[in-house]
Amino acid sequence: MRKIAILSSKGGTGKTTTSINLAHGLALTGKRVLLIDSDPQNTIGIVFNVNPEKTLCDLILKRRASIVKVREKLHIISSGGKNLVDTEAKLMKKFGKEYKLKKNLSHLDGVDYVIVDCAPSINLINVNVLTFCDEVVIPISMDFLSQIGANQILGMIDSVSKSYNKNLDILGVLPVYYNEKRKISLETVAILKDFFREKLFNTYIREDVNLKEAPSFMKTIFEYAPDSWGAQDYFKLANEVDKR
Ligand SMILES: Nc1ncnc2c1ncn2[C@@H]1O[C@H](COP(=O)(O)OP(=O)(O)O)[C@@H](O)[C@H]1O
Ligand SMILES: [Mg+2]
Repeated sequence: MRKIAILSSKGGTGKTTTSINLAHGLALTGKRVLLIDSDPQNTIGIVFNVNPEKTLCDLILKRRASIVKVREKLHIISSGGKNLVDTEAKLMKKFGKEYKLKKNLSHLDGVDYVIVDCAPSINLINVNVLTFCDEVVIPISMDFLSQIGANQILGMIDSVSKSYNKNLDILGVLPVYYNEKRKISLETVAILKDFFREKLFNTYIREDVNLKEAPSFMKTIFEYAPDSWGAQDYFKLANEVDKR
């Protein structure tokens, strides 16, 4: 079982879009996928139109969550929305607070991939996610500010791996909102290549309005616009992740 966190320290860098479409892309190639939402924004529950009784909050504090089937081979655990903020406060006082997610999912089986969509913050919930996961995907949008976000995330990965999880590694850095007609895209990718080398994915996610529209129709990109650039790029990413 591979456990992958989708993380960056900035909002709007394509984490949720990547989580949903990478998860569905892998499911469409026959992998059994569990998608976990660890962001109080609760976008994944909204897109898949589920409101389960037990969420990530219950999983962390009470060891039980509803695992809901949303598509063939694709299940989700909802974040619990704003309750996750209270959950984090309660978690602060617990013994072994960094290991709760790992511990409470230790019996999970029958799954090929766990994908965790993270909130853009350096908080205890994300420490739990990074202690549970072995691999991190860092989506980076094509601008300077998001590179600063990437540096903060590298610091967090480094400190979590030193303190709690020696297995943690970067699976890949993913350029998103890529537009080959824009100089800033070409420049940003050149900087990323230089810095991350083989950790930069060969797949770039192009700017595609279909990716923006799909969630409001409660669809993944493969359902909303199967021939779009977005669908092609996320399918390519699913294959690249599977081979890495
Ligand atoms: N490649 C893309 N092209 C166009 N719009 C995108 C692309 N990726 C994401 N978006 C849109 O950008 C916004 C932010 O993306 P989102 O995945 O929610 O980021 P995050 O989870 O990092 O905050 C959303 O409206 C999303 O639909
Ligand atoms: Mg998000």
